Order: sequence, then C-alpha cells, then structure tokens
Amino acid sequence: METVLSGIRSTGNLHLGNYFGAVKNFIKMQEENNCYFFIADYHSLTTYPTPEDLHNSVKSVLAEYLAMGLDPEKSAIYVQSDVPEIPELYLLLNMNAYVGELERTTSFKDKVRTQPNNVNAGLLTYPVLMAADILIHKSHKVPVGKDQEQNLEMARKFAKRFNHMYKVDYFPEPQPYNFGEDLVKVPGLDGTGKMGKTAGNGIFLVDDDKSIRKKVMRAVTDSGPTEPNSPVSEPIQNLFTIMSLVSAPDTVNFFKEKYANCEIRYGDMKKQLAEDIINFVAPIREKILDIKNNNEYLRKVAEQGAEKARASASQTLKDVRKIIGFRKF
Ligand code: TRP
Repeated sequence: METVLSGIRSTGNLHLGNYFGAVKNFIKMQEENNCYFFIADYHSLTTYPTPEDLHNSVKSVLAEYLAMGLDPEKSAIYVQSDVPEIPELYLLLNMNAYVGELERTTSFKDKVRTQPNNVNAGLLTYPVLMAADILIHKSHKVPVGKDQEQNLEMARKFAKRFNHMYKVDYFPEPQPYNFGEDLVKVPGLDGTGKMGKTAGNGIFLVDDDKSIRKKVMRAVTDSGPTEPNSPVSEPIQNLFTIMSLVSAPDTVNFFKEKYANCEIRYGDMKKQLAEDIINFVAPIREKILDIKNNNEYLRKVAEQGAEKARASASQTLKDVRKIIGFRKF
C-alpha cells in the first residue's frame, strides 16, 4: 500500500468548491492508501496569527475535515506542531537547501512583493518545512493543487539530494496524487472562475441558511435568453453547474427547458438553487458545529493522530540520524 500525505492549510473555512473539488476524493483516497492528513499550523506562523486565531483555526479545520468523513481509525489525522520530529528533520534538510534556490521559488518571490515588511526566514524556508512534512513519513504521493506543485518539486529535489549525498536509496521521490476524472471544478457565484474564498463568490460549509440565500440571490446572471436555444453565458452555465451538484436531475432539466424556450426567470432559479444548497449544506454544517463543540472528541482524535504520526516519524528520524552519522558512543 502506498503512503499518501495530505497537508491542510490551517486557515480559512471549507467551501463547496473544496468539498466537491478535493475533500470528497479524500474519502476514497483514505480507503485505498496509508494516509496521513495533517494541519500545517507551523506554516501559518509566517503570517503571525494571534494565539487565539491560531488555536481556533486549527480547531475549525480539524472539525470540518472530520465532519466531511476523514476517519481517524483509517488514517492518521494530526496537527503538525504535535510532531516534534518534523522540525528536527526540517533542521537537517535546511543544511542541504540553498538560499539561491529558495529565493527563486515563485511563492517566495510573491511574498517579497506582497509583504515586503515581513520577509522572514520562515517564508524563505517554507518549502523545506513542507519537504520535512512529506519526507518524515517517506510519502510516495501528495495531493496538491496547482499553487503547490513547485513546492512538491522542491521536496523531490531535497529527497534526491539527500539520497545522492549519503549514497543511499532512502527517501522515495514524492509524486503528485492524481484524482484523475474524479476532480470536479466548482464555479463561483460571481460570474467567472472557480469558487474561492473571495467575498460573495463562495458558499462555505458553515454558512447559515440566511447567508446562503443572500449569496445565491446576489449571484451574477445575464439579461436572459432572447431567442429559443440561445447559447448559455458563463455566469448562467455556472449556476447550472452548481445546480447539477446539489439539485435533483429533474430540477436541473426543468430550468434548462425553461431556458431553452426563453421562459426562464433567474429569480425563480436562484430561489430553488438556494434551497437545494441549504438542504445540502445544513446537515454538514450541523455536524461541523457538533464536532467543534466536542472538545473531548477533538482532543482524542488529535492525540491518536499524533501517536500514529510520531510512530512513523521517529522511525524515519532514527534512520536519518544514523545515515548522517549521529551515532551513539
Ligand atoms: N503549503 C500547503 C498549502 O498552502 C500546505 C502544506 C504544508 C502542505 N505542508 C504540506 C501540503 C505538505 C502538502 C504537503 O496548501
């Protein structure tokens, strides 16, 4: 069985796009692989969250992923800062990471541009910490989005460099985990592009009914079809795409026909869409809130996860220390 590692940003709530885009596939992934899911709270320190924000966002993210179906019995679900072996491997990998190559990564250059007053060393070595996250379990595969491909490439580079330097075949070179056909792109409500975190464009899984209605009713539309079977514009196609994910096929067909014969009223379509999104999201939201209120359960999951993660991590670190030459007298 392959080892798959998935790193989860510790900030930001999940939206429908995350749900259909990746999280749903995690459920299948955890059935077929030896999976590690962790919340990257060390990485978030590069932007200085307050202690309360740091704690609350880790808690929210954990609750959301558990509500979504990550199973602590099947996978190791843990918080990065509960596994001290990760920062130790990070230190060791740093000795083999060159400042020049780190400075050339796109994400670092972006940060230098967008936050010139806080170009900290943690930002520079962000890809090294990420490589430590991955290599600590000798992971074979990592599901990553487009924006993380370069970081995964760096992890491969550090793995290869280590193997080469010590003439060992120790770390596997981590490859992207491919969801293939299963990957659904969910459009946003603002007319173009995919659902994201920008205001008004996304529906979060913790949104209440009222704000879901408000967001859907404000979704971008067009001036309507002018003749039978006229082509569907992007904003309208997007609404149909979201509808096809949350509504019954009959509902989608009903509005498609209305569109085709120019009888559609976008207001009616949005009302229906809002109710269907609510029916879909409400049970998930209740589950998230239940879990989030259950500190006992969260603690148990995090402890159990850290224990599993540390078992694997300490073995790797033991091997690595030996390979490097740290030995007992
Ligand atoms: N950098 C990733 C992100 O912003 C999160 C992350 C940290 C990660 N460590 C990782 C992802 C290791 C995959 C593997 O989304």
